[in-house]
Amino acid sequence: MSDDAGGTDIQRVTRRPAGPDESARANRVWWERAADDYQAEHGSFLRDTGFLWGPEGVDEADVRLLGPVEDLRGTRVLELGCGAGQCSRWLRSHGVEQVAAVDVSHRQLQHALRIDEHTGVRVPVGQADVQRLPFAAEAFDLVCSAFGGLPFVPDAEAAVAESARVLRPGGRLVFSVSHPFRWCFPDDPGERGLTVRQSYFDRRAYVEENSAGRAVYVEHHHTVGDWVRAVVGAGLVLRDLVEPEWPEDNPETWDGWSPLRGRLFPGTAVFTAVKPEG
Ligand SMILES: C[S@@+](CC[C@H](N)C(=O)[O-])C[C@H]1O[C@@H](n2cnc3c(N)ncnc32)[C@H](O)[C@@H]1O
Repeated sequence: MSDDAGGTDIQRVTRRPAGPDESARANRVWWERAADDYQAEHGSFLRDTGFLWGPEGVDEADVRLLGPVEDLRGTRVLELGCGAGQCSRWLRSHGVEQVAAVDVSHRQLQHALRIDEHTGVRVPVGQADVQRLPFAAEAFDLVCSAFGGLPFVPDAEAAVAESARVLRPGGRLVFSVSHPFRWCFPDDPGERGLTVRQSYFDRRAYVEENSAGRAVYVEHHHTVGDWVRAVVGAGLVLRDLVEPEWPEDNPETWDGWSPLRGRLFPGTAVFTAVKPEG
């Protein structure tokens, strides 16, 4: 069956289990179709060469969750779910030469190439699923991700373990995902998005299906404890869990992320972890 059998029009929204292959396929199809609109809508906020951790607009240039960028020069960095490669391009433009970036969506990567040509800062990209990285063990000093791929995997433990596999001992994993707390609320930036509608503990995936009953978008929920267990279970040491507050100077609404909600509860969680030496 082709990737988009039954089309990409949404006929039904449901909560149900969705496995690794179904999730990756659905999200590849969805991001192929959504990439143009996503870049048109959010491209100027993200900036062609900019490293934002999430819709709050928290900027790596300010918060330095990766440490001083100068210290990354000469290290090998992998970005997961890079979209159009804005984060990797920021690293490259700061002298971090050995950056690789992957995304499941070919169309997102075409946008990366478009921006490469426009800016003259090239990001080496490849099409890959974060659940199966096409790299040797211990190939990287740092794996990073801003909402890339990890919010869309059913098995957080397996996906974090896959990232840990490609890290050398002493290497770091730093990734942002939707803050798990958001799951209880409707994905609405306004007042409606302030009332709890479902259980935080309901791990069934959010699935949009087409007329053939095939998933065309899948998002998975993992609680804070699930992510901590995924990090610890992968043999990493959790260093920090950063919950950025909504900056006063960001008036932008991004889907369910808004100044209204951002003032009241976190929308993004950034996990930082290290792989022990030896
Ligand atoms: C919200 S975007 C974030 C992209 C980029 N970091 C940014 O800030 O624009 C999520 C990205 O994850 C990618 N993605 C979704 N599932 C994935 C998977 N299983 N493996 C790799 N990438 C995936 C999508 O194609 C999309 O580009």
